[in-house]
Amino acid sequence: MSVWIAPSVLSADFGNLAVEVAKVESEADWLHIDVMDGHFVPNLTVGPPVVASLRRHTSMFFDCHLMVDNPARYLSAFKNSGADSCTVHLEVGDTAELVDKMHKLGLKAGVAINPETPVDGVMNLIPSVDLLLVMTVHPGFAGQEFISSVLEKVSVLRDERDRLGVKTLIEVDGGIDPVTAEEAARAGAQVFVAGTSIFSTPPYDEACRRLREAALKGSSM
Ligand code: DX5
Ligand code: ZN
Repeated sequence: MSVWIAPSVLSADFGNLAVEVAKVESEADWLHIDVMDGHFVPNLTVGPPVVASLRRHTSMFFDCHLMVDNPARYLSAFKNSGADSCTVHLEVGDTAELVDKMHKLGLKAGVAINPETPVDGVMNLIPSVDLLLVMTVHPGFAGQEFISSVLEKVSVLRDERDRLGVKTLIEVDGGIDPVTAEEAARAGAQVFVAGTSIFSTPPYDEACRRLREAALKGSSM
């Protein structure tokens, strides 16, 4: 039984990013980097140059969440910048081609679904992706309230993943704190992305430990 804790830099101090990341490094498993293009979501964040800069400061696994309309255009730039995985949204289309492209580039491949998107479109992708991200808020902003009804989808995906006996990880993102992490873990989530509950409650390493404890508790039920 394992859980992965992935702090989201969206809630970190962007003026001090390397210092912020150093503070989570010892207790976190992955670093979640939210990429937004102002089209797929109504917000703008960072891209490959920031990933490349951060890569010079840490060897953490970079889990890049691409909330962009045209991810195909940027995948090789993310790979060259030091991304370990990229996750594209099912809602942008051409998912199978994108997954293939990510794998050919040597990236771990993830597919995300928004809260209102049914699981149907990702069921047949389970054996071919490394990561399935179920959004537990509407993408675009940190600090939103967790949508618990989405956990039904987490359960369906986890059951199918276990039935197939594949290594695909089920990730949740948005409104994750120790309480919701435990609920999500009980539903079958394995990777826990958290922005506000880590970067707004220093010391960050302690916040990571609390999340891990809660997630482990939920997954043992
Ligand atoms: C939202 C992002 C999330 C966000 C989570 O679109 O995908 O990764 O940073 O932030 P919190 O944990 O504050 O909901
Ligand atoms: Zn995210």
